[in-house]
Amino acid sequence: MSAAAQTADQAWLRYIDPHGAAPRLIPRNVRALGASPMEQSAVQELVRGISGLTGLHASASDTGTHNELVLGTTEELRKAYPSSTFANDLGPESYSLAWLPSTTASRLVVQGGDERGVLYGAFALLRLLASGDGLLGLNLRDHPAFSIRWVDEWDNPDGSIERGYAGRSIFFEDGSVRDDLAPVAEYGRLLASVGINGCNINNVNAAPQLLDSAHLKQIARIADALRPWGVHLAMSVAIASPQSIGGLSTYDPLDPAVKAWWIAKAQEIYELIPDFAGFTVKADSEGQPGPASFGRTPADAANTLAAALAPHHGVVLYRAFVYNHHLDWRDPKADRARAAYDIFKPLDGQFAANVVLQIKEGPIDFQAREPVSPLFAGLEHASQAMEVQITQEYTGQQRHLVYLAPMWKWVLDTDLRANSQPSPVKEILAGKTFHQPLGGMVGVAGIGRDRWLGSPLALANLYAFGRLAWNPELDPAQIATEWTQQTFGLVDTVDRIVPDLLMRSWPAYESYTGPLGTQTLTDITGSHYGPNIESSERNGWGQWHNADAQGVGKDRSVATGSGYAGQYPPELAKLYENPTTTPDDLLLFFHHLPYTYRLHSGKTVIQHIYDSHFDGAAQAAQFVTEWSQLNSRVDPALYADVLGRLQYQAGHAIVWRDAIVQYFLKLSGIQDDLGRAGHYPGRLEAESALLTGYKIIDVTPWEDASRGKAVSCDAASLQDAAQRTCTAQWTWIGLSGHYNIAVQYFDLQGGAAKFSFRYRNRTVDTWLADAKLPSRIPNGDNSTRHIIRNVDLQEGEPIFIDGTPDGPDPAAFDYIEITPADAPSGAWDIYSHPANAAPHP
Ligand code: GCU
Repeated sequence: MSAAAQTADQAWLRYIDPHGAAPRLIPRNVRALGASPMEQSAVQELVRGISGLTGLHASASDTGTHNELVLGTTEELRKAYPSSTFANDLGPESYSLAWLPSTTASRLVVQGGDERGVLYGAFALLRLLASGDGLLGLNLRDHPAFSIRWVDEWDNPDGSIERGYAGRSIFFEDGSVRDDLAPVAEYGRLLASVGINGCNINNVNAAPQLLDSAHLKQIARIADALRPWGVHLAMSVAIASPQSIGGLSTYDPLDPAVKAWWIAKAQEIYELIPDFAGFTVKADSEGQPGPASFGRTPADAANTLAAALAPHHGVVLYRAFVYNHHLDWRDPKADRARAAYDIFKPLDGQFAANVVLQIKEGPIDFQAREPVSPLFAGLEHASQAMEVQITQEYTGQQRHLVYLAPMWKWVLDTDLRANSQPSPVKEILAGKTFHQPLGGMVGVAGIGRDRWLGSPLALANLYAFGRLAWNPELDPAQIATEWTQQTFGLVDTVDRIVPDLLMRSWPAYESYTGPLGTQTLTDITGSHYGPNIESSERNGWGQWHNADAQGVGKDRSVATGSGYAGQYPPELAKLYENPTTTPDDLLLFFHHLPYTYRLHSGKTVIQHIYDSHFDGAAQAAQFVTEWSQLNSRVDPALYADVLGRLQYQAGHAIVWRDAIVQYFLKLSGIQDDLGRAGHYPGRLEAESALLTGYKIIDVTPWEDASRGKAVSCDAASLQDAAQRTCTAQWTWIGLSGHYNIAVQYFDLQGGAAKFSFRYRNRTVDTWLADAKLPSRIPNGDNSTRHIIRNVDLQEGEPIFIDGTPDGPDPAAFDYIEITPADAPSGAWDIYSHPANAAPHP
């Protein structure tokens, strides 16, 4: 394998068993009864997997033996073994795994309701092996809960990926489909292994040219690469295509010429891609053209496309993510959260049978926590799919560990009580509640060429998405364990620590970003990454949390607010209408409350804000300690990679913590009961140092820097032009002893500034600000912590930070923080450590 190859075994399809714990009693001759590509894929995968997991040679064979693994559809098996009985009620995509009763042969059968079922059965068998389960007496059958189990990729023809955090596209480059589609086939393997049956390959903000004939021919190659893995290709389409690439004078969905254009386009697509899955549509949303331009409704647009696809059995996934982003923030009735329901509920009953409404899990946009979208209960006459994000746009962009399965599971399990009957979201999506033909889950994956999701542990999200879309009853902790076993092999301690880290990660992230339903308090108009509380306020985007000196939260009650709470069926509407019955973790999503309001937990709102941020950051620090226990138990390169990421996250959690805590401290004027907010023992501000060359700057937003200020080395202003380095100097006036020194610096995009820590005429440490973080100005997106450990500081000695700018990066930094070397890193306790006597200057 060349260094550049991108393979599925960089994810969980590793088939390793470092300690020989996987069962070995499995037939090693693998035979498919059918010749279809999917059955051949299944054989190939079993051979690979069994060899890897047992360490014994497995092979594909064409002729039967007495000890073998036989794969086939029900029909094929019946023909081959007429005197045996096989389940006759396996539906499409379903499988059963069982030994064929025989006194003379040992035959394990993978029976599929169809070829795809055979493939999924093969992967299920491998999953069992990887988990260490013995296969004696195996008799298992399974079927998917949902018909639609798709990933959406937001790839652009130029090879970039909207909200992708793992490098460039595996599909496109420079406006064309890539020559090398080997990674696409590998992606197909990954998707099939968890039962994903559809892949939409391009951005919902769709480039119209992808529908032209030249591109479609290229795209057919992508479909060819996915087909052996049972993955249907789908595309996002721009509703204006008939005009923008079709040369028509309109794209009005009810215009006969427009309808004819879509019919012809669908015909052309199906000639090239006979198993094409369908179209995804984003229209009248965030600047995308749509039917509203002609006074038409989303149903008009969806049905025009649906009519073109119906003869070919294709579907339209019409996104309910339609809202006005020029709302009036002064109007208490204005509310983006209401939009999907307000627009789509009146259209219920008007959508064609092959239209599926694709609804984001919450009413806003993939925040750290949102309530479940009320539209799921509102549409009783339309098939529905829930859209979630695997790519971590608002949840740390893969630099933070956030395992999202518990969040998705919570949504799936939420009982919306439609018509006062049990109606958990998972049953609505399965089409059970409202008797709909289609439905399921769509995960915005954002995979790229950097090992699929960039971060090794983030792959648990892709895995878990597939598993939950197959079976929403699965337990996220169990899924985490499965994924860990497949990724790392059956290794003691690893199988305990990794699932534990995964399960704790979302609550930790929510705690240090946006607790109590305030959503992710991030820069919503820019990076969607670091803290920027006011970016949500006083603009038309409608992600307001309405923080003022007295309180915080958006009033969405019917009585006094936007009325959003009233969009839920009566039982939930009643619950959310009143703060006393609204769960704490959604409270500020529904209500504007004073900082002194007492939660169910007994804490005040403001104290909860303080506590959750300190707790969340302490958790993130704890993740580093826990992962460290795996040193020498996992692959060294992977160990180091994850360690570096978790260390970074622990530092960035402190940036989040401090930004939100100091913001609300200033706004509310209410002190932290535990005395932490606004007090940073051991912290020496850059702006309080003796500065040479460095200039004091105001950081925007102010809360992203300690006390709002930092220093920046503007090389042009240095007195001595030859001297390119700026220096900050303090005198250590604490006790002599061993200390860790954290330097909080800004690692801007572009340039790689150099920093050094100097002490007693010696450069103790030097590092480069060369990480790839958002933003070209110093702020919470790029504020980064570097720790120099175990420095022997003597009372009265000077300490120096030298910063050398590089191009656009001015070696800006915020503060240094000196803590006793034996204190637990990142935990709040370090500040109350008796040896930490360093006073604030
Ligand atoms: C978010 C995201 C956009 C995306 C949009 C969508 O707003 O930031 O990049 O286009 O969702 O889902 O359509």
